[in-house]
Amino acid sequence: MGNLLEVKDLHVSFQTYAGEVKAVRGVNFELKEGETIAIVGESGCGKSVTAKSIMKLLPTSSVRYKQGSIEFYGKNLLANSEKDMQRIRGKQISMIFQDPMTSLNPTSKIGNQIIEAILRHNNISRKEAFNKALNMLELVGIPQASKRIHQYPHEYSGGMRQRAMIAIALACNPRLLIADEPTTALDVTIQAQILELMKEIQQKMGTSIILITHDLGVVAEMCERVVVMYAGQVVETASVRDLYQKPQHPYTEGLLKSIPKLNMDKKQPLAPIIGTPPDLLDPPKGCPFFARCEYAMNVCKNHNPELEEVSPGQFAACWLHHPMAKQGDGKGKANAITINRN
Ligand SMILES: Nc1ncnc2c1ncn2[C@@H]1O[C@H](COP(=O)(O)OP(=O)(O)O)[C@@H](O)[C@H]1O
Ligand SMILES: [Mg+2]
Repeated sequence: MGNLLEVKDLHVSFQTYAGEVKAVRGVNFELKEGETIAIVGESGCGKSVTAKSIMKLLPTSSVRYKQGSIEFYGKNLLANSEKDMQRIRGKQISMIFQDPMTSLNPTSKIGNQIIEAILRHNNISRKEAFNKALNMLELVGIPQASKRIHQYPHEYSGGMRQRAMIAIALACNPRLLIADEPTTALDVTIQAQILELMKEIQQKMGTSIILITHDLGVVAEMCERVVVMYAGQVVETASVRDLYQKPQHPYTEGLLKSIPKLNMDKKQPLAPIIGTPPDLLDPPKGCPFFARCEYAMNVCKNHNPELEEVSPGQFAACWLHHPMAKQGDGKGKANAITINRN
């Protein structure tokens, strides 16, 4: 099947008093029709900015789309007017957020919010919309939906609110659902239920999903492919299996070491990645992971490696995959790499 979405060399900055925050710096990825991918990375690495660029939901006063394109069905969304985007949001592309309370209207009944979402894009009667809203609440597993449809957000539990958000997002059967840390605020059991729900819906409705998370632990069950972001760039992309079994970027390796495993010996500590990501007001010239990387070589300091295919379907941006790096012990010898590039 063809690509539903192609993000090509996306650069997004913010104009701030302190200067230009280079939040996204050359992101590339694609999503096929019906596919589920994850975007993972620590807080601040540009996941939400990437997602909100697709929806064009970033503050117009400060955001600058510097370079690149976001093609949805082959058409560049970045060239769209706000009016064009209003026709697309909720109808073709929907987004759900970590905290449903920020997107749900506290003064409006859940049912009405779903009905509004349906009526915004469909020329049908309110009665028909009501029935569809009821179906949606049942689809997302709200118990006693015919009673709950008349309740307000505060009468729902956290998990149920997230289900209601999903119902609103899917009410018009969008082709793409972007879920930005949808379960981060929920406890582990509810988290698993919501992910299971998204997976079921994906199968039933054929919706493509971009699941954004800082937790690699949650992607294994849900996704086929993973895009790993660091400091506004993609540092690795691979199938879930390859990524877990043989991560090719030291940052991915670090993320994997920092997730708790069910069978893990409790005494064995989790290993968080030491240090912090670079300042995006003044990103480093070389590899952005250089300062935190245990394999760092001389070449890494001043030259940022490009994303390259290191095995079929697996791409990494790391000098360790340079042929020269492999000649030695994987560390010292590679210090000899010199790159003639400006
Ligand atoms: N409206 C904004 N103005 C200035 N900087 C922003 C804005 N939104 C996000 N940023 C910055 O962009 C970078 C990426 O943020 P974000 O995409 O939200 O990260 P995350 O991966 O946690 O979702 C961060 O450095 C953040 O501070
Ligand atoms: Mg975010």
